[in-house]
Amino acid sequence: MTYQEAYDKLNAIGQTQLLRYYDELSDSDKEALLTQIDETDFSVIDYISQGESGAEKGVITPLECMELAEIEANRDRFTSIGLDAIAESRVGAVLLAGGMGTRLGSDDPKGMYNIGLTKDVFIFQRLIENTMDVVRAANEKAGRNDIWIPFYIMTSEKNNDATIRFFEEKNYFGYNKEYVHFFKQDMAPATDKEGKVYLEGKGRIATSPNGNAGWFKSLVNAGLLEGVHEQGIEYLNIFAVDNVLQRIADPAFVGACMERGVDVGAKVVAKAAPDEAIGVMCLEDGRPSIVEYYEMTDEIMHAKNDKGEPAYRFGVILNYLFKVDSLEDILSKTLPMHVVSKKIPYLNEAGELVKPGSPNGYKFEQLVLDMIHQLGSCLPYEVVREHEFAPIKNKTGIDSVESARELCKKDGIEL
Ligand code: UTP
Repeated sequence: MTYQEAYDKLNAIGQTQLLRYYDELSDSDKEALLTQIDETDFSVIDYISQGESGAEKGVITPLECMELAEIEANRDRFTSIGLDAIAESRVGAVLLAGGMGTRLGSDDPKGMYNIGLTKDVFIFQRLIENTMDVVRAANEKAGRNDIWIPFYIMTSEKNNDATIRFFEEKNYFGYNKEYVHFFKQDMAPATDKEGKVYLEGKGRIATSPNGNAGWFKSLVNAGLLEGVHEQGIEYLNIFAVDNVLQRIADPAFVGACMERGVDVGAKVVAKAAPDEAIGVMCLEDGRPSIVEYYEMTDEIMHAKNDKGEPAYRFGVILNYLFKVDSLEDILSKTLPMHVVSKKIPYLNEAGELVKPGSPNGYKFEQLVLDMIHQLGSCLPYEVVREHEFAPIKNKTGIDSVESARELCKKDGIEL
């Protein structure tokens, strides 16, 4: 793209401030900026007018969950089905690690955070160790030693190199690196509160990862779907980087979803309180969906089912098992856009980089929970919160390094 073409593209949408420092740039930086302007999809900015709350919800009704008692009664059969599927390479794991982890406040990828007290225990390490438990169980059951779960890691342009370097440095925490595949998610521009796109450097537009819903498209764009098919992977278990207790490719969960033949399974926990900040599973206009905590009405919060229990008492923990076929069916569908208020580092008028202390603009994200709504069937599958849900969002307080350490200790994990 030439300077004039870039100027025309930006002028048409009122964003020529992005060329403010063009004349000061080296030739290679000029070229890089023009390429970035060419490749950036600025249309997301139009969503600011929709506001932060997002699109209107449809009619919400309860969705039945497979609860602990039913799981216990069938655990052996579910586990056996799941372990066999893992041995046949029909299950892959996808770690969503493209986020910025701004609340944790570390410049490194969130998975590099060390939660250890007497020794190193990195978040990535905890996730690999949890996966290794299942790898061992599958090998034991099959009497083999060559079974591995294909392990995909989604990063973003911002943390990809650091993430790969860290895994290399740590020798993949003992995982077989031939089964680990990295891919990058797409980025979206970040704006101030008036919708003007920020610069993060004189020759660089401020961007941020475009939300965790882009994972399947990004996996396909990275050319990895072929490998998924070649290996015969039929289910992909996606999970957040920050829950250090979660079970990955949990055989009983896999077995339950396979037996029910659902498009997607969702691990859920019973809510700790009606107003807990966690999205709840439901049906929306008859299709599986999630009401986010900020979309919750009093009516939904206090609704009761036939048994007199809270009708929406199971919250999602960002651990889903998707059927690959079903994902391919919805690949071309457009998902809602979420406009999220965040702290965005930017260049001020004087050309200095400012790291704001409070939210100063918007990022644009598509969320994996909206993918669920595109699918026909979903099995919410209850897990015990104390054993499987220790998210690290903040340094201290709720969902923090501190609270996760407490939960790990209770679960016998040495830190
Ligand atoms: P969060 O919603 O907690 O966002 O992500 P975050 O970016 O990690 O943290 P904050 O909000 O800036 O503090 C939930 C999961 O989704 C992944 C994250 O890496 C985490 O595993 N994610 C989020 C992505 O992979 N890409 C994104 O664009 C956003």
